[in-house]
Amino acid sequence: MEYTLSIIKPDGVSRGLIGEVIKRFEEAGIRIAALKMLHLNKEEAEGFYAVHRDKPFFDSLTDFMSSGPIVVMVLEGEDVIGRTRRLIGATDYRKAEPGTIRADFATGIEKNIVHASDAPETAATEIDYFFSKLEISL
Ligand code: CMP
Repeated sequence: MEYTLSIIKPDGVSRGLIGEVIKRFEEAGIRIAALKMLHLNKEEAEGFYAVHRDKPFFDSLTDFMSSGPIVVMVLEGEDVIGRTRRLIGATDYRKAEPGTIRADFATGIEKNIVHASDAPETAATEIDYFFSKLEISL
């Protein structure tokens, strides 16, 4: 079984899309193994997105990610990393497949509603950033 981390970003939470995103995951047969709501401060957002530290969008991205509450989840399923990313769609919502979460709801490359880990190593690091072993129901 595979695990991944997904985040409903501040735009998804403030627009009332928590239920919609979770419904799409659950309807695809993905199990929610852990879930909580958090409001990151700037430093915590910078820590999470540390791999993007040198990108021109880093400051704006971490401002946005610390601008309001987020929902973080551990998702479980076979090939869950790939399946979650296919449900979400491309980072740039203008290139996202019709019917994906980002194609349906994103309003910008930054305000793209949801994040999901892109590989097993990043999934492990990202899950670890938010959850202790005790918080994940196996
Ligand atoms: P996410 O999957 O959370 O990973 C990094 C985030 O940076 C990405 O989604 C976008 O929300 C944000 N971002 C902002 N500008 C860009 C950009 N030009 N290219 C890629 N990601 C960007």
